[in-house]
Amino acid sequence: MENSSLLLHRSVFGSSANSGNVMTESEAKRLLDDWVKNEKLKVHMKQVGHLMRVFSQSKEYGNEVSHRWYLAGLLHDADWDQWPDQHCKKIIGELEDRAIDPEIIRAIASHGPRFFGVEPVSEMDKMLYAFDELSGFVHAYSLMRPEGYAGMEVKGVKKRLKDKTFAAQVSREDIQDASERAGIAVDELIQFVIDHQASADLG
Ligand SMILES: [Fe+2]
Ligand SMILES: [Fe+2]
Repeated sequence: MENSSLLLHRSVFGSSANSGNVMTESEAKRLLDDWVKNEKLKVHMKQVGHLMRVFSQSKEYGNEVSHRWYLAGLLHDADWDQWPDQHCKKIIGELEDRAIDPEIIRAIASHGPRFFGVEPVSEMDKMLYAFDELSGFVHAYSLMRPEGYAGMEVKGVKKRLKDKTFAAQVSREDIQDASERAGIAVDELIQFVIDHQASADLG
């Protein structure tokens, strides 16, 4: 995403008239199947969607809210595979055309403030930004461990974070920035990802 042309140059997304309008899980997955051929990218979005859902459930926000959090995670990179130079303009446009809840669209629009120029404001915005890079990083670490997620510890993840050659594309600065914005320590975020990521439904 090293491309300043991804800046969205807007700060309002969707319409408040569409509050509460969502896609079903199967509709959202159909969109992914249509748009995303890269299986690894699909796994990433399903993992982030899962983390978003479990986090909001841990806050007891209720099923409707948790579903919105899930959708934001599940769809946040939907356009990256086919339209990297229109990331995340394309998925925002699609969700606006489908009259989807503005909170979901805004969270997606702010998942990379350096790239899209949209500040994460709501808790959902901030947690999507926080889970995005960390989810992929912990997953990369699980793939190099013979035991996968089993027995994984925060200190092992942090050791890899200090090794700049490991998953070099993951921005350590963004992980730190997102943690500060979310008001949750990086260690705590890592622990949450370790605890929950392995149980994500990747189907
Ligand atoms: Fe992205
Ligand atoms: Fe992502």
